[in-house]
Amino acid sequence: MQHLLSLQDLTQAQLVHLLALAQTIKSDPRAYRQALAGKSIVMLFEKPSLRTRVSFDIGINKLGGHCLYLDQQNGQLGQRESVADFASNLSCWADAIVARTFSHQTIEELAENSKVPVINALSDLYHPCQGLADLLTLTEQLGDLSQATIAYVGDGNNVTHSLMIGAAILGAKLRVICPPGHFPDGQVVLKAQALAAQYGGELILSSDVNALVGSQVIYTDTWISMGDDTPLANIEAKFGSYQVNKALMSLADAQYFMHCLPAHRGVEVTDEILDGPQSLVLHQAENRMHAQNALLVTLLAQ
Ligand code: CP
Ligand code: NVA
Repeated sequence: MQHLLSLQDLTQAQLVHLLALAQTIKSDPRAYRQALAGKSIVMLFEKPSLRTRVSFDIGINKLGGHCLYLDQQNGQLGQRESVADFASNLSCWADAIVARTFSHQTIEELAENSKVPVINALSDLYHPCQGLADLLTLTEQLGDLSQATIAYVGDGNNVTHSLMIGAAILGAKLRVICPPGHFPDGQVVLKAQALAAQYGGELILSSDVNALVGSQVIYTDTWISMGDDTPLANIEAKFGSYQVNKALMSLADAQYFMHCLPAHRGVEVTDEILDGPQSLVLHQAENRMHAQNALLVTLLAQ
């Protein structure tokens, strides 16, 4: 593994190893206090962030490394100088680059022109660091994910794509339930279905919320992702029956609720579910750091 642009860069063995290492680092952080000693990591963000920025910064610090945050004051990547020049210059000083970009193509271009590992911290197509934290959280709660049935409901987006790929690699059953016109990207669906077939998983897509029945977990995300300026009023009616509320949790008979955050309270999920005993959202947020630390230790040890 040279970079992490999408979870599809990982074999099943690599993904299982990363999740196990994340659990080890989480349970014994003192043993990893010098794991990134002398390493500097640049974090490049074209879009806002709370969890990703803070979990990388504090996580790198806990591993004895140093990180540098470059915000949107530098403008969109590729404007002042090309993405390729950006990557080749950063590689002169940094040991890794963490980047959140509008376009997935920008992340690919950074990786093509970087001599050091590039980690996707969210693009329009994937959010693999979120996917790792979600799989870690699911493993902690459910154990062997090849026996798990998970449902994602709402907008088919970057978070959905990473969950689809990750669940497929671990052989889980995943149901993705979206309003018509808001399904995940067709190419990513084909990739995830191929991986599910290879690893004994299953991926079902439907617009019918009854497809949730029997899911152990219901996952949702915002109906409008960063970079999409669709007014909520234009889609609210179409998404209304996909809101995660008490009725939907009961319909599925689900044990757990998940959301990558930030959540829009009263929109894709009600307060009662988000703040209730079934909610794993703060476990997911905490696990961002442990999963990313396992990733950094693995990429920078090579
Ligand atoms: N879940 C997540 O990536 O949150 P941020 O956008 O706050 O980083
Ligand atoms: N799908 C959301 C995830 C935010 C963490 C977005 O891209 O805005």
